[in-house]
Amino acid sequence: MSEIASVGIRIAITGTGAYLPERVLTNDDLSTMVDTSDEWIQARTGMRERRIAREDEATSDMGAVAATRALESAGVDAAEVDLIIVATCTPDMIFPSTACHIQELIGAKNAFCFDLSAACSGFLYGIETARGMITSGVYKTVLVIGAEKMSSITDWEDRGTCILFGDGAGAAVLQAGDEGHGIMSTVMGSDGSLGDLLKLPAGGSRTPASAQTVEDRLHFTKMGGNQVFKHAVLCMSEAGQKALDLAGLEIADVDWVIPHQANMRIINAIAERAEVPLEKLCVNLERVGNLSGASVPVVLDEAVRDGRIKRGDIILFVVFGAGFTWGAMVLQW
Ligand SMILES: CC(C)(COP(=O)(O)OP(=O)(O)OC[C@H]1O[C@@H](n2cnc3c(N)ncnc32)[C@H](O)[C@@H]1OP(=O)(O)O)[C@@H](O)C(=O)NCCC(=O)NCCS
Repeated sequence: MSEIASVGIRIAITGTGAYLPERVLTNDDLSTMVDTSDEWIQARTGMRERRIAREDEATSDMGAVAATRALESAGVDAAEVDLIIVATCTPDMIFPSTACHIQELIGAKNAFCFDLSAACSGFLYGIETARGMITSGVYKTVLVIGAEKMSSITDWEDRGTCILFGDGAGAAVLQAGDEGHGIMSTVMGSDGSLGDLLKLPAGGSRTPASAQTVEDRLHFTKMGGNQVFKHAVLCMSEAGQKALDLAGLEIADVDWVIPHQANMRIINAIAERAEVPLEKLCVNLERVGNLSGASVPVVLDEAVRDGRIKRGDIILFVVFGAGFTWGAMVLQW
């Protein structure tokens, strides 16, 4: 297990954008597909519905719309972007990277581009990577995108997973902050020993795609839900507290907590441990489900656009995902 903490010069999020597909899949719809019910799903997860991408809509298509909206809100031209990082576990294809696809779609012809694999923690990993790149002094404007077509890796016959996930994309523009605005502290962790608890087994070099892997349904998400739940609560709680300590802040100083949107019971457990009032939580999982790497940027964009998040607000992000991976970040908006 590793956990790295850092404080440095402040790098800010100067624009955000998001995209959700049109099609809504409700709990009642799911109850016609697997043995489940609206009552069970709402009680165990807090989710009511989620969005599902069109068949011809890939992760890069959604990511490109979110990216364009983020650039517009930052007042930045696509040609000014130095680097595009796409956090995704549902890339368009194994290669080229989804980041390169998005570069082409948005016309960011001066950027270099790569994908980052940290599942549901990917967006925060991307932000931390961007922070390091901008701090190096070489790159000025970085686009970090979390985009997922989770429906493409969901086993619609597995009621333990298919109720949880949705499709969507969010993006943020990162640049040097002014007057102290920006990232105050970060804590990033990984524990590869627990990888088996949440994975997509086939389609990589370990188990290449074959007729047998398709028949065995190995191209879908496999999860030990209970174990993931426990580790998610523990890792996000501890990382959040460490990030606050590093920033020299108390939980009472925080205006907004933006957690990964995995399950309302996970979010409530974290809030209870940290004594965070529920009105300080930014939550959208009841409408969109778990968007994996896109969860945090989508809920962030919603809170910025509806005016909840104001300049100067202190935000605490906490994330957790397959790997296991996790992280926390304190940022002054
Ligand atoms: C998946 C999750 C919602 C399941 O909730 P849970 O409270 O842990 O439920 P359990 O897995 O213990 O299952 C309890 C019972 O409900 C049943 N069940 C599971 N899914 C069900 C569903 N969709 N509808 C109805 N019943 C269901 C189980 O079969 C089990 O029945 P049993 O007691 O007869 O064996 C929950 O574990 C979770 O959210 N885990 C974390 C997932 C996550 O965050 N993943 C992404 C990481 S970023």
